[in-house]
Amino acid sequence: MDARWDALVTGASLATLDGEGYGAITDGAVAWKDGVLAYVGRRADLPASPATLATHAIEASGWITPGLVDCHTHAVFAGDRAAEFEMRLEGARYQDIARAGGGILSTVRAVRNADEAALYAESKPRVDALRGDGVTTLEIKSGYGLDYENERKMLRVARRFRDSSLDVRTTYLAAHALPPEFVGRADDYIDAAIQWLPRLHAEGLVDAVDAFCEGIGFSPAQTRRLFDCARSLGLPVKLHADQLSDLGGAALASEFNALSADHVEHTSEAGVRAMASAGTVAVLLPGAFHVLRETQLPPLDLFRAHGVPMAIATDCNPGTSPLLSLRQAMQLACTHFKFTPEDALRGATVHGARALGLHDRGMLRVGMRADLALWDIKHPAELCYWLGGTLLRRTFVAGLPSIA
Ligand code: NIG
Ligand code: FE
Repeated sequence: MDARWDALVTGASLATLDGEGYGAITDGAVAWKDGVLAYVGRRADLPASPATLATHAIEASGWITPGLVDCHTHAVFAGDRAAEFEMRLEGARYQDIARAGGGILSTVRAVRNADEAALYAESKPRVDALRGDGVTTLEIKSGYGLDYENERKMLRVARRFRDSSLDVRTTYLAAHALPPEFVGRADDYIDAAIQWLPRLHAEGLVDAVDAFCEGIGFSPAQTRRLFDCARSLGLPVKLHADQLSDLGGAALASEFNALSADHVEHTSEAGVRAMASAGTVAVLLPGAFHVLRETQLPPLDLFRAHGVPMAIATDCNPGTSPLLSLRQAMQLACTHFKFTPEDALRGATVHGARALGLHDRGMLRVGMRADLALWDIKHPAELCYWLGGTLLRRTFVAGLPSIA
């Protein structure tokens, strides 16, 4: 007889994230066809024995969650900034290192000096580490090229990581820092970045547009000009907003119906209200908070009070967050931001997907993509409880197996 489903997994409990809490189903069953979930429920409610229902009947144990969504990374880069880490431990501030030509600009030099093959080879272990801890959708930003060819190189490399075991979304972040050739001419640089964008978009390299709106980055007025360009191309925007100071970044992002405002440590109540009415997700980046030994917490209670969804991401980057595990970011969200493990998992699945404008993933529900992570744990809180370790057994991405 023709099997109804391509694959059916039984023997594990499910954290579906559908509805309240974990949306837990003990002794669950999950099946898919053509990469889309076709059954999510109790094993006991299956209409027949697993072997007759699917081409591949897989017996598992532990817990199954939606594949994790890391919605904010700078995982494609060359070199490292371990020396700056040491400088910061001796008292130097991130802003001071950046103003002295280090920081983002030191990574820009390394990226410009690497050809596409070298940039890919250097970035691959990071992408593999993130994927190896449960990430099935990964956002990667440009922003260390800062000229047309090098931004293009970064986006092309990022796109090359999209394969059968990982979906990749790419974000154009040319407005990340001012390159040396534009010193004193930030408005001219924004003009240039605005000219590159349609060409890169025409090549199919851009899913969203981001900027670093900050004293050491770009002003709200400059950000606005870039966002106007994104809007004219029909591209969604995201923003590094209010990380080190409150420039009204979250409110500005919301004016453009941004998918997300990210960092947001210094966001005011007015900014939170604007995000709530625009449906903009707050992407919290506890890795950067931790590494910079930040003390200003994001306005967590206000986000909750106004119903702003909070996503969690690694911000994987060589300066402020050399973090290679989204599960570890979830752990840091629990420690620093008093997230429950359940909220952290929701932040790294449901809300992470929404921060990328993806409505076909982030929970286990019939009709959603079959993006799954199978974990060797007895309770989902363990995902946030262990610091490090190997908990992932395997993932499925659009129904295709990756890690076995
Ligand atoms: O998200 N804030 C700006 N961008 C990155 C840091 C990048 C870097 O220092 O290389 C961030 O924290
Ligand atoms: Fe970032």
